[in-house]
Amino acid sequence: MATHTRTNVTHWEVQWTRRRKLVEEWREHRHTVIRKEDVKLHDSARGHRVGCYMGEDGGKPTRVIDAWVHEIDPGVTTTVHRHSWDAMTFVVSGSGWTEIDGERFEWRPWDALHLPAWAWHRSGNDGDTPARLMTYSSEPLLSTLGMAMVDDRGHTPVERLPPRPAYTEQVDGDDPYAGRVRRLGQEQQQRRSGRLHTDYDSIPLLVNPKGTRSKFLVDRAIGHQASGITQVMLQFAPGRGQAMHLHPGEAWLYVVEGRGHSYLGEEPTGGENHEWKGGDLVVVDHAVWHQHFNDDPEHPARLVRVHAFDSVLETMRVLCDPLDLFQEPPENLKAMGDLSGIDWPPDRRPEG
Ligand SMILES: [Fe+2]
Ligand SMILES: [Fe+2]
Repeated sequence: MATHTRTNVTHWEVQWTRRRKLVEEWREHRHTVIRKEDVKLHDSARGHRVGCYMGEDGGKPTRVIDAWVHEIDPGVTTTVHRHSWDAMTFVVSGSGWTEIDGERFEWRPWDALHLPAWAWHRSGNDGDTPARLMTYSSEPLLSTLGMAMVDDRGHTPVERLPPRPAYTEQVDGDDPYAGRVRRLGQEQQQRRSGRLHTDYDSIPLLVNPKGTRSKFLVDRAIGHQASGITQVMLQFAPGRGQAMHLHPGEAWLYVVEGRGHSYLGEEPTGGENHEWKGGDLVVVDHAVWHQHFNDDPEHPARLVRVHAFDSVLETMRVLCDPLDLFQEPPENLKAMGDLSGIDWPPDRRPEG
């Protein structure tokens, strides 16, 4: 029997109301700085402790990426799991290992990992101090699309786990379907052969035009095959800032070391300054002018910048053209002055 839904309200009114409500609701979700002391750690069924800096499960919903912290005690091995989204880690302190589809990577402070979608992974700590890791994932984006799934198999040995989802490399023909199968087959091959581990010392630290010195931790420029999530270590010289710019969210800066403040405003003037310190997360979650400063006159500040601009923001730029979603006026870069004269203290990472 056929069913009919009757309404006296047009599609235009239904969608207009829905769209207006969405923006109003998301304005309520905006954040500036998430303080380390406000992120509560919980024992998890995986055997470690977890806390949510940004993300739905920490009461701070996001649309593209989330940010969690993990602590693994000495002697602990987590359960093995996989998910439909990808993630990346940054080692804050301690040392340990992570197995990705059975391949083991040892890590130390400031190393980074990429955990590809559908790759089995578990981590362990063989040392004598707890290990602390930040992780950032594309789960919110996959949830937005209705495609987020997690598969936790406890302590099942990896050789007894199913492989990643199968795919077809090619079918006969010269038609659009054959073209799609071939294109996606090649894409999958490439996606499954990306870089997984970054040893902090293996990437050079370079002074960039925005006034900081920086290095890639997770990015396609150094061989990762991520969903667009990237990590860069930014270092601010004592007492110096970074050029003011504007872009949409979600972009976050995890404060590894140091203290400073960030200007956030709807306009380049008249906004507000927000202080931060080690362990905090600076949040840019909508299109806002911003500028970060190191307030310590003697020591550098170190922040890890995270976003998914390589995929989501590039798509938005194309769809919104000619709206300019990235604004970094040349005079703002010029205002950074002569960068060659900055006195940079030596870079050194903590012992594991
Ligand atoms: Fe995971
Ligand atoms: Fe930014």
